[in-house]
Amino acid sequence: MVRGSAAITPAEPESAPPRHVAIIMDGNGRWAAARHLPRVAGHREGARAVRRTIEAAIRHQIGWLTIYAFSSENWRRPAGEVLDLTGLLRQYLRTEIAELASSGVRMRFIGDRNRFDEGIQKDLIQAEKDTVGNTRLNLTVALSYGARAEIVSAARAMMAAVAAGEVDPDALTEDGFARFLSTDGIPDPDLIIRTSGEQRLSNFLLWQAAYSELVFLDVLWPDFDATHFAAALADFARRERRFGARPA
Ligand code: FPP
Repeated sequence: MVRGSAAITPAEPESAPPRHVAIIMDGNGRWAAARHLPRVAGHREGARAVRRTIEAAIRHQIGWLTIYAFSSENWRRPAGEVLDLTGLLRQYLRTEIAELASSGVRMRFIGDRNRFDEGIQKDLIQAEKDTVGNTRLNLTVALSYGARAEIVSAARAMMAAVAAGEVDPDALTEDGFARFLSTDGIPDPDLIIRTSGEQRLSNFLLWQAAYSELVFLDVLWPDFDATHFAAALADFARRERRFGARPA
């Protein structure tokens, strides 16, 4: 323990812990390639990293976690890989939901779920139903999600509300518009983590990320564990969040 004022260094400004952490899980393919394995092996290992991350988020008492599991652009991958990814999703929904439900996790899905087959669509509805009363961790999974499409869809819904006389366009506020987004009721992410060393948002939560702190980690997603999660939280704690204002 350090005693005496001479030894005390000024404490770094600490941000309040993030209420909402969002993650762009990247690097499954490179993880597999480095091991001369098929890409699906990277995705499978990536699903294990999802499990570890949910546990870490619960341990750190993070209230909201959002993961980018499948982008609207991922449909353009070769058919075999799309099949592997949707197969993993189906398996995940069938095997993990009961445990997530009993751990107090509430699940939500954002994105264009109509593009998945009927079986998966039913499983998504069931997972949301089975976990609706949980409050320990709010887990949102972005599936067939693209932020620009989300914003266009919100604009379309808002224009319909204007046409129906439910919204006065002159009185529309940012919060009022955000109510039309798929993330209505979910706080904006305080921290967005992207793995694999890439430094971009890739059409993820573009509206909601306006004031998010971004942390880019060099680890490939399948290797992501509780240590990396804690390191990202520590990095976040050192950030001074201003939301466009000047420091006090
Ligand atoms: C990016 O790696 C990751 C994805 C496209 C999919 C993410 C999927 C998982 C983590 C597994 C399944 C998740 C659930 C919830 C069941 P990449 O393939 O783009 O990697 P690369 O950039 O190295 O090629």
